[in-house]
Amino acid sequence: MSELVIVKDEGAIRVIRMNRPDKKNALSAVMYDAMAEAVETAAGASPVRCILIAGVPGAFSAGNDLGDFMRAATGGEGLGHAVIRFLHALARCERPLVAAVQGVAVGIGTTMMLHCDYAVAASDARFSTPFVALGLVPEAASSLIAPRLMGRRRAFELLVMGRPFSGEDAKAAGLVNQVVAAAEVEAEAMKAAQQIAALPPEAVAISRRLMKGAPDEIIKRIDDEAVQFKARLASPEARRALEAFFERKK
Ligand code: COA
Repeated sequence: MSELVIVKDEGAIRVIRMNRPDKKNALSAVMYDAMAEAVETAAGASPVRCILIAGVPGAFSAGNDLGDFMRAATGGEGLGHAVIRFLHALARCERPLVAAVQGVAVGIGTTMMLHCDYAVAASDARFSTPFVALGLVPEAASSLIAPRLMGRRRAFELLVMGRPFSGEDAKAAGLVNQVVAAAEVEAEAMKAAQQIAALPPEAVAISRRLMKGAPDEIIKRIDDEAVQFKARLASPEARRALEAFFERKK
């Protein structure tokens, strides 16, 4: 089996590639753990200056593995340790995060953008967060960061109504910086990552910290959302929606 997450340092850039194309990069616990590890170890004395998160053609990520959500719903569990570990790692990350998004970016595939410092979307990118349609609630501190970034009404449209955003919509909402052709998305994201990596690292780190503030508020919101998420997973609304997803092709 090929690696589900490929982590490769290209000079000062750590590329984290989600690589489960047959499932549109739906994220499982082992994938979250691998991604968390890659983010956590790019800290302190690490020579990594910038982290680039990428997917595969047609899929940045289809979001959390719905089979895992189904198991959590049945077993009375919540988001799970690996998901929380990854979200905390994003919130605490000391290095700038860049995203290269092509194709579907569902759920955490979209909310990850809120933790990135620079994001490039392909013209085929489609951002969506069907949390509420699944009977769930937003995660990854998106309930805090998205209203700040794009205003409460646009955040409501995305996070509660679940309306998909095209690359251009995402750019207008401040969710991504650039929209380019799919064939160019990785090269453009790499160019941005290299520009960041070439800057004086201490000045970058301090500026970034000043702009983001301490991660405590974000971490607390991730944890508060997780409490609600766990309760929602146990709800009949979520159970029905998850069953419907797996029934749809039968
Ligand atoms: N969890 C588990 N499996 C998933 C998945 C997910 N989040 N998203 C896609 N898959 C699987 C499909 O079940 C399918 O598997 P199969 O080939 O064994 O049947 C495969 O990935 C390809 O998906 P498919 O639905 O055929 O591709 P598509 O291009 O028609 O649609 C999506 C892509 C992402 C729009 C669609 O798969 C989808 O809506 N997925 C669910 C997204 C979601 O709700 N994520 C959770 C957010 S909180």
